[in-house]
Order: sequence, then structure tokens, then C-alpha cells
Amino acid sequence: DLMDQITRLEELFTVPQDKLKQISDHFVDELTKGLTVEGGSIPMNPTWCMAFPDGYETGTFLALDMGGTNLRVCEITLPEEKGEFDIIQSKYRMPEELKTGTAEELWNYIADCLQQFIEYHHQDEDLDALPLGFTFSYPATQEYIDHGVLQRWTKGFDIEGVEGKDVVPPFEAALAERGVPIKLTALVNDTTGTLIASAYTDTEMRIGCIFGTGCNAAYMENCGSIPKLAHMNLDPSLPMAINCEWGAFDNEHKVLPRTPYDIVIDKESPRPGQQAFEKMIAGLYLGEIFRLVLLDLHQNQDCAIFETQDVSKLTKAYSLDAGFLSFIEEDPFENLSETHDLFQNKLGISCTKPELELIRRLAELVGTRAARLSACGVAAICKKKGWETCHVGADGSVFNKYPHFKVRGAQALKEILDWPADKGKGKDDPIEILPAEDGSGVGAALIAALTLKRVQQGQ
Ligand code: BG6
Ligand code: GLC
Repeated sequence: DLMDQITRLEELFTVPQDKLKQISDHFVDELTKGLTVEGGSIPMNPTWCMAFPDGYETGTFLALDMGGTNLRVCEITLPEEKGEFDIIQSKYRMPEELKTGTAEELWNYIADCLQQFIEYHHQDEDLDALPLGFTFSYPATQEYIDHGVLQRWTKGFDIEGVEGKDVVPPFEAALAERGVPIKLTALVNDTTGTLIASAYTDTEMRIGCIFGTGCNAAYMENCGSIPKLAHMNLDPSLPMAINCEWGAFDNEHKVLPRTPYDIVIDKESPRPGQQAFEKMIAGLYLGEIFRLVLLDLHQNQDCAIFETQDVSKLTKAYSLDAGFLSFIEEDPFENLSETHDLFQNKLGISCTKPELELIRRLAELVGTRAARLSACGVAAICKKKGWETCHVGADGSVFNKYPHFKVRGAQALKEILDWPADKGKGKDDPIEILPAEDGSGVGAALIAALTLKRVQQGQ
């Protein structure tokens, strides 16, 4: 019956303490391996962002954010001395079709948004080219900070002819075609932007994390600990921000407790075999995991939920997002009446009381697994670097909006790192994950400013 199904799902989706430890230990090895010449599955991309801000970065910069839920353009004026930033910004819709369209459509759309922004905010001005920090939140190989070769699309993007190529020339060509006065100064990952923006206001910040549509982190490494850069003879004590791209952790499926549903997600995705870790925890996939379980219970398990109901709406891939799960987890009523109405209105399914209870438990299981697995990555970076106390800046829709995500993550960190009983609540923990400053706005502007400073100093 349904109770047996709940027990089965609990077994499938629960990650116990010893498993968390095993995962984070393997994670440490994989982070280290990613920095070697041979490499591993985690890319560990050097970003050429080689300093934390000191608070004396100044100037006006544009920032473009592409890679989360929205396309966003900001103009940021950094203060003469640490203080308030002056920001104007516009958000544009990121049309769904663009994600699987052509490269030309993508660059044209982005250039159009930038052009609109400039025309609106700098009407009739005779502008010198404005420096731009472009937050392009996908894995990229960078030999310079103002270039990047896309390693592969992630987060469901599938645009032909971009992977394996430098994304900057076609982007600049689209701007030039329109005569938009912008000069790309730095190509930035959202995690690096988050790290730098957070460190500007809090010097205890060591890691920048995104828990959103995708999931990833960046931290500052020493050049001397990056064997794959040894041929460049950089001063070993120089810092280098590493964009881990940890979504690719365990692509070889050695430790992650994958369920049959995770295997379907991977198989049906545009890039099977990639982003194994991300596909179990990122916002893009949470609703889909949940949907696949419900559909399986309806079609294949002897308990048959939603019997006699029309489930056609539930058969549509990616029709439920992480917000759908958040809503269920937030239903305040004992009888789950809001969940009942949600299923009725959105899916045309009328749920029984036991079904509603199963639905709530399933949402908790999927959300809890995501938070606990995410903590394995944070713990791994800290272990690798020997940081017993630090702050971690986090951003993204899952971190900011998904109920209990923060507390569940803190609890998992405590289990991995064996903190005393009074820790693991999220507040005043040795390693504390805090809401980040705006990474792809302020962070990208700061990185652009740091880059110009380095160029001026002739480094
Ligand atoms: C935003 C950050 O708030 O969160 C972006 O400024 C980041 O840099 C984004 O990409 C990630 O969240 P989501 O949920 O939009 O993928
Ligand atoms: C995906 C991208 C990565 C990004 C993350 C969060 O994992 O590959 O570059 O940082 O999503 O947006």
C-alpha cells in the first residue's frame, strides 16, 4: 500500500551520515585530481581572477548575467571607498526557445538587450566604450580573463556550434554589428562573481556557491597547488579563483546514491553522462525527479496512485519546477489543502488524503537529499583547504527560496564534519553558509575593475 511505498522512497532518497562522509571524502580527491594535468571529471577551471578586492576598486561598469533564470543587464558604479554601490538594472526574459535554438539567435538576442539598455540609459550621449563583466555561467576553458571556450552546455541548454569555441568573438561581433559601445573586459562565472562580491563585504568569505537552476562553487586556490598551470611559471603564492564546475562530480557514478529516477533524468537530458551531481540537486531537476516518481507510482507500482484520474498533464517532461515542490513543502495545513488545490488546479488531479501525505513526504525527501548532497561539496572544499572555520556566500533560487534548504544543509555539514551537538543550525556554525551579495552584478563589475587594475599595473 501507500505506506510501503513511502518506506521504499525513504530508503531510496535518504542519504545517511556515513554516506555523506564517504561522498565528501571522494569529493576531496576529485577536486585535487581536477587541478592536475591528467584531470578528472570535475573541470576545476582557472578563471584568471587573481585577487580579492581591497575596497579601492572604482569606476563604472556594465554587467551582463546569462545563465540563471533571467537575462539581466546592470550598470554599476563602484564607490570611491567601500560603501553603497550605485546600480541601475533591467531584467529581460530568457525565452525558453533560445536555449535550444541557434547560436546566432542567442548572440543577437543578448546584443539586442544590451543595445536597448544603452539606448534607454544613455540616450544621445557620446559614449566611450563601457567596460563589461559578462557572467556566462557555463564551464569555460580560459587562457585569458576576457576569453573563454565553452566546454559543454549545462542546465538544459543545447545550442549547436558553440561548444569547443571561444564565445567572445561571436558575442563581440553581434555588438559591433549594432554599433553598441561596449568592451568585454572579463568573462566571469556566477560562482566566481559570488565569491568576489561576497568577499568585498565580508573578509571571512572563502567560497562562492550557486544553488539555483544549476549548482556549482568557486574558491581561491594558490597557483602553486595547480599542477596543470605549472608550465606557466606563475608565482606559486599568487591566488587564482577556481571555478570548480562541481556539477560534474561523480560522472563515473562511483559514490552518489542514484535512484532509477536519476538515471532517467540523465538519459533524457541533452547531455547524458554529464553533470551527475548537478542532476540530483539543482533546481532545474528537482521538480522533474518528483514528477518521475509520481508517474512511476501511478503506472508501475502495485499501489497505483491517482487511480481513475486523468494524469495526462503529469506526463509532460519538466512541467513541474522547483517552485512547485517549495509550495508543497510550505503547505501550512494539517490536511494539506493547499497541496490538494495545487494538484487540482495545475494538474487536474484530485488527490486522496493518503496520496497527499505521500506527495508531501516525497517533496521533503527530494528537497532534503538536494540540501544534504550540496553540503558534501562545501565540506570537501573546506577539507581540501584545511579551513575549519569560514563563511560561504550562496545565491540562487533554491538557496533563497526553497524551504528548509539552509537548515538541512547546515545539519548535513555538522554530520560530515563532526561538529558538537549545539552546532549545525546554520547560525554561528564554524562553517556558515550565508546569503551572498549580487555576484553577477557587483561581482562581475568588481572583477572587471580588478582586471583593468592589473592591466594598468602591467601584470
Ligand atoms: C542570481 C545571481 O541571483 O542567482 C546569478 O546573481 C546566478 O549570478 C543566479 O546565476 C543563479 O540562480 P538561478 O536560480 O537564477 O539559477
Ligand atoms: C551550471 C554551470 C555552472 C554554473 C552553475 C550555476 O553548473 O555549468 O557554470 O556556475 O550551473 O549557475
